[in-house]
Amino acid sequence: MSRKNIIAANWKMNMAPSEAAAFLDPFLKAFPEPTPVEIVVAPSFVSLPKAAELLAGQSAVGLSAQNMSHEKSGAFTGETSAAMLVEVGCQYVILGHSERRSLYGEDDVVINRKVHATLAAGLVPILCIGESLEERDGGQLEFVLSQQLEGSLAGIDASQMPGIVIAYEPVWAIGTGRTATPEQAQETQAYVRSVIERLFGGAVAEAVRIQYGGSVKPGNAGELIAQPDIDGFLVGGASLDPASFGEIVKAGF
Ligand code: PGA
Repeated sequence: MSRKNIIAANWKMNMAPSEAAAFLDPFLKAFPEPTPVEIVVAPSFVSLPKAAELLAGQSAVGLSAQNMSHEKSGAFTGETSAAMLVEVGCQYVILGHSERRSLYGEDDVVINRKVHATLAAGLVPILCIGESLEERDGGQLEFVLSQQLEGSLAGIDASQMPGIVIAYEPVWAIGTGRTATPEQAQETQAYVRSVIERLFGGAVAEAVRIQYGGSVKPGNAGELIAQPDIDGFLVGGASLDPASFGEIVKAGF
């Protein structure tokens, strides 16, 4: 299988510019050259310029935002456009994270607009999907995931799919310390790939990268990444420390 693992640090509302610098300094010393893994860090908006400055001139670590407006410009107080992210040095944007969905009311329609805006700007969306515990226990897992994928990828052509990364994050595993077992994660990741196959065909499904996220730690990263349909991680809590994130990255080599 030739999919390159992609391991991303989602710093959420942590890491002011000074803290981002304190992380990146040792981290870039630990990973000075491109590795077998695509490494990405996603600071808050205000820390993006500092991170971009530190990441300039190296190609081991890419830069992501955590959210973006689907609008190009105008009277949208508090919002940030794709062009702004490109100018500041981002290559990726996390879209549709479960915290955006549940706390800020983002639905698949708005996430879909963001996916289109991201691709139009030449950015790579890291598109998050995932079910709640209620939905899983209620037998809704497959329905919820296929709805999220169909909705957020509406109008996307198969030729655009190589430029999209999917992150499967069971909501009940985010920040809870409760990880999906490797078997649970694999079964669901394989289901996600089967939906991509139904929507875009076998070649796209085989090529698209599907991250797992939800309480990934140095201690469980190895057994998770060994699953055939896990192509990397979106890491929250354990990505705030350069040594711990570094260990997770190395699990993906
Ligand atoms: P966590 O967060 O690793 O802290 O569970 C993952 C995420 O929300 O992306």
